[in-house]
Amino acid sequence: MTKPSVAPAAGPVVIARGISKTFSGVRVLNEVDFDICSGEIHALIGENGAGKSTLVKIIGGVYSPTAGTLTVENEPVFFRNPHAARAAGIALIHQEPLTFQDLNVTENLYLGHTRGGGKPFINWSELYGKTDELLDTLGVKMRGHDPVRGMTIADQQMIEIASALSQNARVIIMDEPTAALSQGEVITLFDMIRRLKEQGRAIVFIGHRLEEILEIADRITVLRDGNLVGECPRNDATSDALVHMMINRSIKELIVKETVPIGDVLLETKGLSYPGQYENINIKVKQGEIVGMAGLVGAGRSEVASAIFGTQLALSGDIFIRGQKVRIKNPLQAMRKGVAMVSEDRARTGLVTAFAIKFNMTFAVLDRIATRLGFIKNKKEQELVARYGKYLNVKMRNTDQTVRELSGGNQQKVVIAKWLLTESEILILDEPTRGIDVGAKMEVYRLINELAKQGKAILMISSELPEILQLSDRVYVMCDGHVTAELNRDELDGNRIMAAASMVRHRSAV
Ligand SMILES: Nc1ncnc2c1ncn2[C@@H]1O[C@H](COP(=O)(O)OP(=O)(O)OP(=O)(O)O)[C@@H](O)[C@H]1O
Ligand SMILES: [Mg+2]
Repeated sequence: MTKPSVAPAAGPVVIARGISKTFSGVRVLNEVDFDICSGEIHALIGENGAGKSTLVKIIGGVYSPTAGTLTVENEPVFFRNPHAARAAGIALIHQEPLTFQDLNVTENLYLGHTRGGGKPFINWSELYGKTDELLDTLGVKMRGHDPVRGMTIADQQMIEIASALSQNARVIIMDEPTAALSQGEVITLFDMIRRLKEQGRAIVFIGHRLEEILEIADRITVLRDGNLVGECPRNDATSDALVHMMINRSIKELIVKETVPIGDVLLETKGLSYPGQYENINIKVKQGEIVGMAGLVGAGRSEVASAIFGTQLALSGDIFIRGQKVRIKNPLQAMRKGVAMVSEDRARTGLVTAFAIKFNMTFAVLDRIATRLGFIKNKKEQELVARYGKYLNVKMRNTDQTVRELSGGNQQKVVIAKWLLTESEILILDEPTRGIDVGAKMEVYRLINELAKQGKAILMISSELPEILQLSDRVYVMCDGHVTAELNRDELDGNRIMAAASMVRHRSAV
């Protein structure tokens, strides 16, 4: 048992009392109490749609509560907007990074707080210097001049964390910060969070991976359906008890991999290359097979997927579908050839969040639900959407609700539904369970198994080792743009995968 590194703070910095929130007549938070203390990491957990993001958005000034009070250092506060919360020392790092794509790292960091201090102009060279210094202390590779467009979610999240630090925030709230990170990056992030705690900052950490929660938290609060179920110190918590508090039942069943007959090769790449991103990628995915793609974030896995799906073409090499060489120049062509992809970055490439759930789900299959003249057959649409919504247990009021209003995990389920509806025979899943709660994860695993059983070829990119180990028939490991290992199911082993994923110098092994 480790001793806490910081003496408990005098009293909470932030006290939230009786917080309720109603959206269009639906109550999503119900008289919740929540305290945030200096030098403490307070984890907030609960199923998708439980109200975690809503609660921290209220504390961060994004929403105003329908009822309840907030005090910061014993002063009652009322935040009109996130700026007001930032000025009070509260920084909220969102579930979906809110970086500006057209700006570079430094511009993103200092946007909104460069003026003030009475200085008439911005000293950019000083800011670039400060940014690089800050990035160094965070141990990240990016530089102040780097453009944000094209960065991974992990990198964009780092920018937001750096931004909070540059404003010297006392309270740092992180909404699912590890969802897009690989194991190595989680370790770096946790080191950083611990340093912040030692500096006496107050941290709120929202997450779905219980191992992570148990490792990092000092205190844990559980929400269910907008209600506070309980709060306890880390040392009183067990994984089973937390799951029970979250979903009011226990999860006994493990992921069971079903054995399915493996058929012909449906997808194959030969010598796929994009210098600087990936090189000489030769992979095969067969009918009924679940092929895992393991590796650290930034290894080039998503880029390979983009080449197959036609969002960013490879510079050389070939793609074969059912043994036929194909040229896929865009996602539409990929879809016509039977390839579907659940992308990692749902906000940018998976969903139109301002549109209704039903539109988002049927977007890729409009031809199936439209008449020859292009009118949508409402009944058919309704039937498909209802079926898949129920299948994936999407928590929504109705299918006309906009996707923006759904919780993060439920948005992910809509993306999955969209691609399932296409009934494609080749499915690329890029981090399919990112941000999904324990219960929903099991549903998605069952679904992936079932799709394999139906004879689909599945390429599953995942940074979660347990997921890769339990579901895959075969695994490719990528590191630094190269495939560094190919392992069959009987050779699967976490250590071997991690070793291949972090090889520094390598010759392409396969
Ligand atoms: N702007 C909004 N308008 C309408 N309903 C909303 C809005 N924001 C959130 N909700 C609803 O409030 C409920 C709680 O959502 P919230 O995003 O807080 O959940 P969460 O616990 O963060 O879930 P997740 O783990 O999936 O991110 C959900 O049912 C969601 O649909
Ligand atoms: Mg959320």
